Amino acid sequence: MLRKIVSMTADVLCTLDLPEPFPTLVSARAALRTLGRLPGAEGLAAELHARPVDVLCPQLRDPIDAAVLDAGLPRLRCVSVYAVGYDNVDVDAATARGIVVGHTPGVLTDAVADCTVGLMLAVARRLCEGDRELRAGRYTGWEPTYLLGTEMRDAVLGIIGFGRIGQAVARRALAFSMRIVYFDTTDPTIADDLREIAQQVSLDALLREADVVSVHTPLSAETHHLIDTDALRAMKPTAVLVNTSRGPVIDEVALVRALREHWIAGAGLDVYENEPQLAPGLAGCTNAVLAPHLGSATVRTRAAMGELCARNALDAIAGRLPRHCVNPEAWARASPPPLTAS
Ligand code: DGY
Repeated sequence: MLRKIVSMTADVLCTLDLPEPFPTLVSARAALRTLGRLPGAEGLAAELHARPVDVLCPQLRDPIDAAVLDAGLPRLRCVSVYAVGYDNVDVDAATARGIVVGHTPGVLTDAVADCTVGLMLAVARRLCEGDRELRAGRYTGWEPTYLLGTEMRDAVLGIIGFGRIGQAVARRALAFSMRIVYFDTTDPTIADDLREIAQQVSLDALLREADVVSVHTPLSAETHHLIDTDALRAMKPTAVLVNTSRGPVIDEVALVRALREHWIAGAGLDVYENEPQLAPGLAGCTNAVLAPHLGSATVRTRAAMGELCARNALDAIAGRLPRHCVNPEAWARASPPPLTAS
């Protein structure tokens, strides 16, 4: 059925500037406006009231709650998030309002997996501790037992959340001759090359057996504080914990205690419970390597995320279901007409 194009101008709002090709792609078909700041939920709601838009392109620090979505109505048809994780968006509220939510899966898998392995090695081989020793002039020369770490060969890597990124980490770990066990509640599709190699285990078994525990699960009510005091107590005292997913999956206060009291050997973190704040004492834990949410931070990946974010937005503008939509039922419910010829 031919649907009427209701207007030739679609409006798209970003909070922060997104990298090319996002602006070029979007500006070719819509009026693009960027706030250049993170206004918070109230500020964003006020902005949407004052200047309604068809598509909002937030990033992971913009809280998109029911009030923000309400402020966008009746015009807002799509929230195209510049991230793979969309825990900052109240998806149920969006679905109830017929607003689709897009995200950027796939394109950041390798960059995040690389960063994960970097953190794993940095902690296990104490590279950042060594860097600090050297710069402080405390290194007095090679010694047989100086800064000994853990070797990856034959070590067990326990992956919590065995989706795209978890599996990409597993593939890299095989190059170090690690053994792979995983825990996942969602019954993910396992790639052919890993099916015979990665062993599914319970969370308890993973925590008990793994030399490296790497967290790759999305944040949800079920995964909030999945790694708590009990989980940390269950890990080996020689184990390393790595998190490149979302901070609140780990109880950070409990982690500080675990690092201080050496329940585990160390942690490599890219994400934090109250980002950008760190839990009290975390910065003083010399057995932790702390990165400022750099998992997807490569020029190539951030551009690819920009392209997907733009494509999702342009799909919605053209009256099509965004290609990476987490709530397609919202589209079926609202069935918005095309705004521009695609
Ligand atoms: C994401 O996309 O969810 C990452 O945390 C940031 O790239």
